[in-house]
Amino acid sequence: MSRFWSSVVHDLSPYVPGEQPKLDGIIKLNTNENPYGPSPRVLAAIASATDRLRLYPDPRATSLRETIAARYDVAPEEVFVGNGSDEVLAHTFQALLKHDAPLLFPDITYSFYPVYCGLYGICYEEVPLDAAMRVQLADFQRPCSPILLPNPNAPTGIGLPREAIAALVAEHPDQLAVIDEAYVDFGAESAVSLVARHDNLLIVQTLSKSRALAGLRVGFAIGQRPLIEALERVKGSFNSYPLDCLAIAGAVAAIEDDAWFQETRERIVANREALVRALSELGFEVLPSVANFVFARHRRHGGAQLAAQLRERGVLVRHFQKPRIKDFLRITVGTEDQCSRLIALASSLI
Ligand SMILES: Cc1ncc(COP(=O)(O)O)c(C=O)c1O
Repeated sequence: MSRFWSSVVHDLSPYVPGEQPKLDGIIKLNTNENPYGPSPRVLAAIASATDRLRLYPDPRATSLRETIAARYDVAPEEVFVGNGSDEVLAHTFQALLKHDAPLLFPDITYSFYPVYCGLYGICYEEVPLDAAMRVQLADFQRPCSPILLPNPNAPTGIGLPREAIAALVAEHPDQLAVIDEAYVDFGAESAVSLVARHDNLLIVQTLSKSRALAGLRVGFAIGQRPLIEALERVKGSFNSYPLDCLAIAGAVAAIEDDAWFQETRERIVANREALVRALSELGFEVLPSVANFVFARHRRHGGAQLAAQLRERGVLVRHFQKPRIKDFLRITVGTEDQCSRLIALASSLI
């Protein structure tokens, strides 16, 4: 604390990211990173982009927006890119989600959302998940309140069908719906194809998960031009160059290497199904996940204790000390070997 702090800083409670330990030999299943790494084409593209380090990068990241647009069948002007989807979300909060009517998001969801509300002074209401930890869209339908939903939700991993989102945006044209699709590539249904028909829909995605580039920091949004223009206005008033030239080159190569993307995500989905079976056999209740993580609780053992015991033995998983979910562990789907080692360890503890 210092007398030089602004009043905003006094009141901030920053987001607490998952641990990034420096220790060797840890099995790291706590921050939903991709265990298989990025396409080799990404590494080659980054290496050749080092020639351009002397110059400022393209402030509009045109090559990347064009590549994303071609991949998702939209116009480049319907794509916004930023330094991780966290930054894209931050601009979205400021540009599109600050209104008199409260922003609505689930009570159990990505814990950065209330932090952005604090930073930008946005009023919000947390809409409870139902008893099965599912989003009930009917509870989100209120005149003029913007809606922010991850699909699949985090940390539950439960997805919503595209048809449900289509009905939501069609029936409530005055409510803006922002769908955070950070984990969509692992089995949920993307709503990108609905953007052409709905001016009240914005999709946010990331290259951190299914394209294994959490360290490069690239995220994007897809929406109709007026929504994208709002994001560009905030970005242009904040940082002209959120993506450096290495990130732009690497991200283009990652989107272009569809074979690598398909192969690695299929492996993760197969590992997830095996992990769910093995955890269930050990007496865990596992929520139905379409993400690259599972959310599970044991019938007899508390979440905090299990997470601590796993950590002492070199396996990191995520635990949230929050009402309703304190007995759950969020476990990232790792390689076949990492998942087997987690299961062997868990079975020795319960
Ligand atoms: C639901 C959700 N959205 C967005 C993000 C941000 O991802 P990134 O900033 O790495 O793109 C995360 C990160 O874990 C997440 O869980």
